[in-house]
Amino acid sequence: MNKEMTAYLEIFEKNKEWVARMKATDAQFFEKLSEGQNPELLYIGCSDSRVTAEDFMGLNPGEVFVHRNIGNVISNTDLNVMSVINYAVAHLNVKHIVVCGHYHCGGVKAAMQPQDMGIINPWLRNIRDVYRIHKDELNAISDGDKRYNRLVELNVEEQCFNVIKTAVVQRFYLKSGYPLVHGWIFDMKTGELIDLKLDFPKILKEVQEIYNLEADE
Ligand code: CO
Repeated sequence: MNKEMTAYLEIFEKNKEWVARMKATDAQFFEKLSEGQNPELLYIGCSDSRVTAEDFMGLNPGEVFVHRNIGNVISNTDLNVMSVINYAVAHLNVKHIVVCGHYHCGGVKAAMQPQDMGIINPWLRNIRDVYRIHKDELNAISDGDKRYNRLVELNVEEQCFNVIKTAVVQRFYLKSGYPLVHGWIFDMKTGELIDLKLDFPKILKEVQEIYNLEADE
């Protein structure tokens, strides 16, 4: 058997070890897990293999609802992410929605290249649009790496705007004060999470000037 095949099969061995480890800390762990979920947090992050949501947040199964895609993009016409947000807010009643980007993001890097990327063009367009909105600030940064890092941050901010543009988030927030929306960055060079400390009420107000989907009662 070649090396790739054994590495693949090792996953099942590792799974058995993980099951044993979880049961050692709590014998009823999997029984409880099967009874239902009640996560407080919806995490929307990048698919990048180095950005493993639960691991760097120190969370266990059942503690976070997760959606990942290339470049942590929240696109209005993406039925997948829109379904995730709707379900998490309206049915799981999550208290927080986090959009988490990361430095060294290949999706953001690709969006900065002036080239035809084929099938991924429409997806990267979402990030190119972020560049266009903030082009004055970005073009003023002469250091290429710094400009790249800043686009990662601005992409998180714009995707938070996109979360807040949804009717379900506006409706539940105005009714109950939740969910709150947060923008984070994972810095893989240090392993640390950075809170961009976005001003949620201010963003909501800005969004509502144009995207108000919830009339005051
Ligand atoms: Co990425």
